[in-house]
Amino acid sequence: MRDTWYPVLESKRLGRRPVGITRLGRELVLWRDARGQPVAQDAACPHRGADLSRGRVVGGCLECPYHGMRFAADGACVRVPCEGKARPIRADLRVKGYAVRESLGLVWLWWGEHRSELPPLPWNHELPGVGAGTCTATLTWNVPFARVMEGNLDLHHFPFAHRRWALGMGTWLDPYTARLEGDVIHTHGVLREDDGKPWDGRSGFAAEIKVLFPHLVLARFGGLTQALIAATPIDAEHTWVVFRYRNGLPIVGGLVAWFLVRSELWLIQPEDYALLRDSAPRHPSREDFHLVRADAGIALWFRLYERRLEAQPR
Ligand code: FES
Ligand SMILES: [Fe+2]
Repeated sequence: MRDTWYPVLESKRLGRRPVGITRLGRELVLWRDARGQPVAQDAACPHRGADLSRGRVVGGCLECPYHGMRFAADGACVRVPCEGKARPIRADLRVKGYAVRESLGLVWLWWGEHRSELPPLPWNHELPGVGAGTCTATLTWNVPFARVMEGNLDLHHFPFAHRRWALGMGTWLDPYTARLEGDVIHTHGVLREDDGKPWDGRSGFAAEIKVLFPHLVLARFGGLTQALIAATPIDAEHTWVVFRYRNGLPIVGGLVAWFLVRSELWLIQPEDYALLRDSAPRHPSREDFHLVRADAGIALWFRLYERRLEAQPR
């Protein structure tokens, strides 16, 4: 999906050394300029293609490990050691760069047409930051982006896919609502015992999942726990996922968030991963599914996805 801000790296992973990552099908190098601002550029050196992420940052510029050419944050080559300092540098010797911003402990990259004024970071005031009561982890999955988002919108898999941890959780998703407001899919559901009666307003496991299309998920469980899940395509087959829990309990909130993140990493996510990785086809459209009422949020996501893909230049 073009014209979107994607989180691409945790801020704390970007220090003095350049970092090489693949996101959105591109090999990128991330580094910090003299003011500490993040910079994202194509990882292939424009001279003869060496991997710039193996270079170093010198004097606020990125130095290629192969012949020592230096590139400024704006992409211009500012030094070609083998030519001597006096010789002018050809103007087309530039590395392509991408707009990046840093917020909420994440580096965000603008994937789309360059504009003089870029839109603000999505949901910047709504997403949990890195303060007290939060814990963050990242995953690299061999699962295409759309499949990851499909999994994020799924509530009724829980008592089956995670049956070992869902002791006593009901299998009936009722009530369940999914609606679209602009680019936001709102879903709310209660998993409870299938007693055939109207919901009493209390029983069962209630969850609220909001997705800012295409890639940001904000989930709420009970009154105190909030989860952010953000997915960024690495390439057509792989996805980078960052998830963050925030718990509002005084003093122990951070510990609860840590515990929730660890249980996701060690217990829950491996189960989701195995199922999503092996689901067929790997790149489904809505026609490949036989969706039921409890999949209404997923249906909305795929509707937006297919519409956007059609509108986008290939
Ligand atoms: S390949 Fe980078 S300086 Fe030669
Ligand atoms: Fe799951």
